[in-house]
Amino acid sequence: MTQTIIYEASEIVVGPGENGLDRVDGGAIAVEDGTVAAVGPTEEITRAYPPENAVRAIDASGQAVIPGFVDSHTHALFAGDRSDEFEAKLRGVSYQEILDEGGGILRTVQATRNASEAELLDRLLGQLDAMLAHGTTTVEIKSGYGLDSETELRMLSVIKRADDTHPVDIVPAYMGAHAVPEGRTTDDYVKAVVTEQLPAVERQGIAEFCDVFCEEGVFDVEQSRRVLTAGAEHGLTPKVHAEEFVRLGGAQLAAELGATSADHLLHAEQVDIDALNASGVTPVLLPGTAFSLGAEYADARAFIDRGASVALASDFNPNCHSPSMGFAVALGCLEMEMTPAEALGAATHGGASALNRSDSGLGTLHPGAPADLCLIDAPSHVHIPYTFGINLVDTVLKAGEVVSD
Ligand code: NIG
Ligand code: FE
Repeated sequence: MTQTIIYEASEIVVGPGENGLDRVDGGAIAVEDGTVAAVGPTEEITRAYPPENAVRAIDASGQAVIPGFVDSHTHALFAGDRSDEFEAKLRGVSYQEILDEGGGILRTVQATRNASEAELLDRLLGQLDAMLAHGTTTVEIKSGYGLDSETELRMLSVIKRADDTHPVDIVPAYMGAHAVPEGRTTDDYVKAVVTEQLPAVERQGIAEFCDVFCEEGVFDVEQSRRVLTAGAEHGLTPKVHAEEFVRLGGAQLAAELGATSADHLLHAEQVDIDALNASGVTPVLLPGTAFSLGAEYADARAFIDRGASVALASDFNPNCHSPSMGFAVALGCLEMEMTPAEALGAATHGGASALNRSDSGLGTLHPGAPADLCLIDAPSHVHIPYTFGINLVDTVLKAGEVVSD
């Protein structure tokens, strides 16, 4: 029996295609065993999969269907409140000045170290509810607000528990090299990451990726290389925060190490883009961060025009306090000259490639792909950026089951 059939959708976004996206107007989609069985014109699909024989039939008249968002870069697990720093930034204090005075990441580290596992879990489940309501069905979440073995492992354990109980799928990344804890030298802390934290993270067996903040005043290229090389020896796939505030060489490092993604890239140059392309590294662009910092946006056009398949992600964290992928798509269009089709593709199948999950069809609605999808209250995907500031997501299905409506 068909698990779910959705029919008469004004548009179904299926996946990457000729002009950015392959779409079906007046479409239907049939789901069996949690995956897409068929997608196409309503008449054709309902003939093969009659709605009356389905466990659940959804009339999607007037609505568009899109793949669930794949948010490939977040720091969504944290304790504390940094809204006062938001106010300080509005008065002209810079992100790095705040960090240099023990605020920013280091303040969230204090709050996270002081929070119990139960408090952190409760907090994360709330964030996941918000993400799901905004159409995110898969999210990458980094540790990195512990900066000691005990708290880093606690964060990863909370991420695993949330993944086990919440419908949103979580991809766990270890980011002990997110900042240098107070009172330590960078080299001394890198040694602790390599000799203490990474072996413990491997023993715990939760994290899949290892990320590092390769940035002036944080970890230089050599220190980042040490962390990522050791991470790989402990079974973790590299990712890099690269060229966010200055062009330091993180993108070239990502290319050299064959990282899955290089993220931020506000100051990447053409040689960096070519190096990432040549090594198959997915560039992850985070327009919400530039928006909240009042910074220059990454040059999405330069990446796309040179053939890169980019990802857009929310970078949800205490400094970029929005988990909305619809908002990231709107910024991609309005601030980075992406077309709505490019931006939506980057937020769905682009995110899947930034998480090494393209092979399963994640981020598309091709037959065989996971039936993770959203019905939106608008006739086409163009309305997502067009109607910025409004959450158009009506119903969310995860593996073919309704998980939010
Ligand atoms: O991706 N750049 C480093 N990490 C985060 C910010 C984290 C924070 O400020 O708490 C980012 O923007
Ligand atoms: Fe980040």
